[in-house]
Amino acid sequence: AADGPSINVLLDEPIGVIRPEIYSQFTEHIGGVIYDGIWVGPDSKVENIGGIRKKLIDHIQRIGNVVIRWPGGCFADSYHWRDGIGPVAKRPRRFGRWSEATEPNTFGTHEFIRFCRLTKTEPYLAANVGAGSPEEFQHWVEYCNAPAGATSLADERVANGDKDPFGVRYWGVGNESWGCGGKFTPEDYCREYRRFTEWVPEYGVKPYLIAAGPNSNDLDWTRRFFAKWADGARAPIQGWAPHYYCGTTGHALEFNHDQWYEMFHKANQMETLIREQWGVLGQFDPEHKIKLIIDEWGAWHPKGTEINARHLFEQMGCLRDALVAALTLDTFNRHADKVDMANVAQLINNIHSLFLADGDQFVATPNFYVFEMYKAHHNGKAVRIDVQTPEATFRAEGKEQHLFRVAGSASRSGDRGLTLTLVHTHPTEPVEIAVNLKGGKAASVRQTVLSHEQLNAHNTFAEPLTLVPRTTETKLTGGVIRPTLAPASVTRFDVTLE
Ligand code: AHR
Repeated sequence: AADGPSINVLLDEPIGVIRPEIYSQFTEHIGGVIYDGIWVGPDSKVENIGGIRKKLIDHIQRIGNVVIRWPGGCFADSYHWRDGIGPVAKRPRRFGRWSEATEPNTFGTHEFIRFCRLTKTEPYLAANVGAGSPEEFQHWVEYCNAPAGATSLADERVANGDKDPFGVRYWGVGNESWGCGGKFTPEDYCREYRRFTEWVPEYGVKPYLIAAGPNSNDLDWTRRFFAKWADGARAPIQGWAPHYYCGTTGHALEFNHDQWYEMFHKANQMETLIREQWGVLGQFDPEHKIKLIIDEWGAWHPKGTEINARHLFEQMGCLRDALVAALTLDTFNRHADKVDMANVAQLINNIHSLFLADGDQFVATPNFYVFEMYKAHHNGKAVRIDVQTPEATFRAEGKEQHLFRVAGSASRSGDRGLTLTLVHTHPTEPVEIAVNLKGGKAASVRQTVLSHEQLNAHNTFAEPLTLVPRTTETKLTGGVIRPTLAPASVTRFDVTLE
């Protein structure tokens, strides 16, 4: 066993503080995310607080103080914020991009901010660059953040029911500007970015401005945008936002073992994306003041498992998606010095959702339990780990490929706390692994496991607890942690150090 699989946790090799923001969420006016998912309306029979689904509020609090991005996505680049304020009956109805359904504008800025306040999350608003103007953007900032009485826009906010400013810090300047956000070239988008950010009012909150990064790891988009940015006056940018969807293999609930591994192989490309995007950022911003914001990510499966046909892009999330979520969050943890925020697409009734809801029915998907398990990392100090396990072999694209069998991340909290999370990809066999703490000794360990013998296990309205984590004590032999990882599992170890 001495030569068997092992992990060294390098307790004295810190990476950076794990910001709770990398566990953030994305919400868009699309399918069933806002209407039905979040908003049921104050007169609904579904339990709600001021129109917002109560069970959702309760569950979000269990994943911690994260950020929620809104109103899109592609929707953002056609959204005019004035459509969503003032008396609801007077708000215009518009053609809803994506869903091809009428957008009633019942849920607007005030409702979104109320949702954030109820869930103790922080808002992240995405501004309309595709069809909007710099003035519209700057007015939105003023409407949200100016103190009562300071300007007419602030007074309008007060008249619409909110005396206290919203204090919105995170502002996205466009979304997927290479695609649905305007089909710009990187140079043209950079020009627009300059116009939009030339003057952004502060009102006591320093804006954190996020520029639309590439489609996946398109290095050309990043190089060309920043070459233009560095040529002349440098507009303020705090975050650079690539989007990476790892797609699918097989089907949401049907896949063979090769497809099982291939899915993780694709999800693991996030590692390359972070390293390479960071490398290009460093050529233009050597002090690395600009951080990465992965504000859309997730596994995106083909149609067929939606619970309500009106919920565009809705899919059933199973154990496989939970492992994708866990290994992606581990990747962010290992790059805590580079990634300031990440927003999974999307919170509810959509791609890689934490929740599914339809009328009065509600269920937490396996992804939710991963986010809840990984909350233990929030604000921890990420430390390096070194995993030594044989690789898994699988076939994809007509050739043999390799993938890690075990991957994970670790963080320290306080003087004696250590959280270690591990993803074990082998679909059928357990593995015993030695966890060596370099620079410390374990006094006690507990482990929490999310696993199931069926690789496509998932939670449904009828059987909501099919896949939930279970916690047990871990035996320590002479201070050595030698657990057996269940096949197809996500495990969190809560270690108290001596
Ligand atoms: O999340 C669904 C869509 O995917 C978003 O609107 C868009 O930004 C991305 O292409």
